[in-house]
Amino acid sequence: MILLSILILLALCGPAHGICGQTCGLRPMGTTVGSTRVVGGTDVMPGTGAWAGIASVRCYWNPPVSVHVCGGTLVSSQWLLTAAHCFINITNPLSEWAIVLGATSLGQSGPDVEVRRIKRLILHEKYTPNLEHHDVAMVELDRPVRCRSSIQTACLPGPSVKVSELKNCYVAGWGDRIVKASGRDVLQQAKVQVVDNQLCNSSEWLQGYIYDFNVCAGQGGVGTCQGDSGGPLVCQDKRAGFFWQIGVTSWGVGCARPKRPAVSSSTQYYYNWIWSTMGRKPAPATMPPPPPAPTYTAAPPPTITPRPVQPCPFPREKLLQFFNLLKDILRYLKEKLF
Ligand code: ARG
Repeated sequence: MILLSILILLALCGPAHGICGQTCGLRPMGTTVGSTRVVGGTDVMPGTGAWAGIASVRCYWNPPVSVHVCGGTLVSSQWLLTAAHCFINITNPLSEWAIVLGATSLGQSGPDVEVRRIKRLILHEKYTPNLEHHDVAMVELDRPVRCRSSIQTACLPGPSVKVSELKNCYVAGWGDRIVKASGRDVLQQAKVQVVDNQLCNSSEWLQGYIYDFNVCAGQGGVGTCQGDSGGPLVCQDKRAGFFWQIGVTSWGVGCARPKRPAVSSSTQYYYNWIWSTMGRKPAPATMPPPPPAPTYTAAPPPTITPRPVQPCPFPREKLLQFFNLLKDILRYLKEKLF
């Protein structure tokens, strides 16, 4: 009973350890050392819990060797958000793909890292290859992951978040093939400026190519590049210390060129699509049923710097969150005890 009360308290206001179901978007930035990549970025240091929601989407060209294809972000314990085009150019069957979570280096393995296979891939129904319209996809993992400091979930902004007012935005990824060829495989992060859609779509910029479902960010020496697709563009919340994932890296004209910002798919635009995709009924007879869609997701506190404070959410949301959590807790306890 006491245990249950503690769990309930944790569920409502505090950190929940080792389960996905409560907080999100914590600490994308960790300690950094100077270097180049993403383009104009810095190394993400391992073991800091920085960018803990990021995943490397890989293909096994020549097993057991896998090749990083795209980034992605965990949005619940069993679902990854990424870009649809990642799966278009490479037509290998889904059984030849893997999702690696919790790593900062591509070659990393060990207790921080989890590897999952793809159970289901759902591309946006209106995804248009080449034009890259509606370039989002959801990947259901074969098994849920246990969230911890190295593996967390991203916060997706619902309609009420004033995304255009957010500051301190960052991108991350293992992209830029040129540098990768030199053997470096450390996750890169960079601070980028978001360019508003009107300017981004204007004649000297990306005239006519930008829609409501896009967000432009990073140009003139800083920004994403090949291999960063599917990864996050995040901005710091105004009051609390967490980050909203506002974009999914999609395309660009070259990398980090002036007035040619990288283009992302807007997670606010696709907010309903993302959540309804996770709750969607499986295709007839072939697939097992999807898990319930939690509203928020969790992680234990990072070890190096203090955990940022996340405000207790709105009561109704809180209740919903609580029931989702309870489900997670029971599943976790069942796994742990039996
Ligand atoms: N579409 C590319 C990929 O598959 C890169 C996206 C960002 N590109 C850029 N030039 N900013 O990884």
